[in-house]
Amino acid sequence: MGYLAIPRKYRPSTFNQVIGQEHITETIKNAIKTGRVAHAYIFAGPRGVGKTTTARIIAKAMNCESPNNGEPCNSCLSCKGINTGSFPDVIEIDAASNRGIDQIRELRETVLYSPVQGKYKVYIIDEFHMLTKEAFNALLKTLEEPPAHVVFILATTELDKIPPTILSRCQRFIFKKVSEKKVVETLSDICDKESINYETEALHLISIASEGCLRDAESILDQMISLSEGVIKTETVSKFLGVLGGKLLKELLKNGFEGNRVKLHETLSELDSSGFNPSTVIRQLIKYIEKQFLSVDSDFSEEEMNVAFEILTKNIRTIDAHPFPFTALLFSLYKLSYYKDIKKLSELMQSLKNISFKDSTRIDIKKNEKKLPSISKEKPPEKKETFDLDNYIKKVEKQEKHVHIIPKNGIAYDRLIERKAELEKRFDKKVIIPEPKSSRKIARDVKLDKDTEKKVDKVISLFHAKILPGYPRTEK
Ligand SMILES: Nc1ncnc2c1ncn2[C@@H]1O[C@H](COP(=O)(O)OP(=O)(O)O)[C@@H](O)[C@H]1O
Ligand SMILES: [Mg+2]
Ligand SMILES: [Zn+2]
Repeated sequence: MGYLAIPRKYRPSTFNQVIGQEHITETIKNAIKTGRVAHAYIFAGPRGVGKTTTARIIAKAMNCESPNNGEPCNSCLSCKGINTGSFPDVIEIDAASNRGIDQIRELRETVLYSPVQGKYKVYIIDEFHMLTKEAFNALLKTLEEPPAHVVFILATTELDKIPPTILSRCQRFIFKKVSEKKVVETLSDICDKESINYETEALHLISIASEGCLRDAESILDQMISLSEGVIKTETVSKFLGVLGGKLLKELLKNGFEGNRVKLHETLSELDSSGFNPSTVIRQLIKYIEKQFLSVDSDFSEEEMNVAFEILTKNIRTIDAHPFPFTALLFSLYKLSYYKDIKKLSELMQSLKNISFKDSTRIDIKKNEKKLPSISKEKPPEKKETFDLDNYIKKVEKQEKHVHIIPKNGIAYDRLIERKAELEKRFDKKVIIPEPKSSRKIARDVKLDKDTEKKVDKVISLFHAKILPGYPRTEK
């Protein structure tokens, strides 16, 4: 036998070898053991996950001369014939190229003949959803009253295109994508059997690129084997597939958090010239964060992961639509460096947290985060044109030489101090305005220097936060 491509060479020959579809294979195995096989099955699910494979195993198990516990023996004449595709009673039809009513009419007639060699005739119709409406209707009768020696297995990637009249006459199985972990395990198994060395990360990349389609993963592996000399390397696979390894993803995030413009630009330019797709890169970054989030020894703090997830998610569309997507990616990653300022800010907020009265300085990020996308900065309250003193004064105590004016709160204190001269004129006495002893004092103790203030502004615009009245309040 000549060279066999890996997906063909490693096609499972028993139910137990089918990976990740145990919910289906176990049920079918039991049905075969107990002789309760349905007359028509629908196999739905993505491509390359084992539908045709499972259909053929059913055909074998039902025709096998010495089945074992529901599994085919793979060595009798029937099993061998089905494995090589030369068994007359297993009929595979591609509905994509046999869509019409004539083909189905013909099929309806042949269905009536007894099996030539085996016990059952098994019809495997692939891409079943491609049949025309008339063809579906023509098949309906046969599905209603099928001869006892016939089993239909109807495979499709698009279940919603199958008419309900057909669906209700079939037993339905939904095949799942194969998990990343299982794909990697399968690939490493194959490498071991083929005596090929590999870097585990390289297999992960193949798995990511195949998106749960095991056939694709195996085909890529096949290509990688012929591309690599001796060892399948992460770098080779990464370049070939345009997917990044974990090391590089981590580096991008780290450089983002550190605000390392030069490094970021360098790495991204390299990816650009190697033909990587920025849309894939940002998606990979997000999936990488998810993985980190679920790992016990993550390289990033929980806050960092949240910030990264948030910022990158907000930028997916921008990058997809941008005329300079790598530049957009650069700036998205650079935004992560603002995180440090957020941290400072959150410490600042912590110290302001206990201030309860309404005029205090409050920058409420959490609460306003949801109000996307409006950027609203409330202006500090305008000075009233008419200065209503009574609003600000709690108590006036006239002494011999001076007047004590007790402000209602911190804001009132500020206003009264501003008008001190005016007040002294009015009372014709020295005016003393004591600073209120409320928590206002705490607020005044927290200094927002120019630098912090700038950062606060940056953070606020980044998160579309809203600033409540009274901000910014710097010491005079
Ligand atoms: N669940 C699976 N377990 C093991 N191998 C699989 C599985 N799914 C796909 N494969 C591999 O991919 C090849 C094609 O699978 P196939 O059953 O034809 O996929 P489908 O019919 O769902 O498109 C198989 O020969 C096998 O090598
Ligand atoms: Mg198939
Ligand atoms: Zn057999």
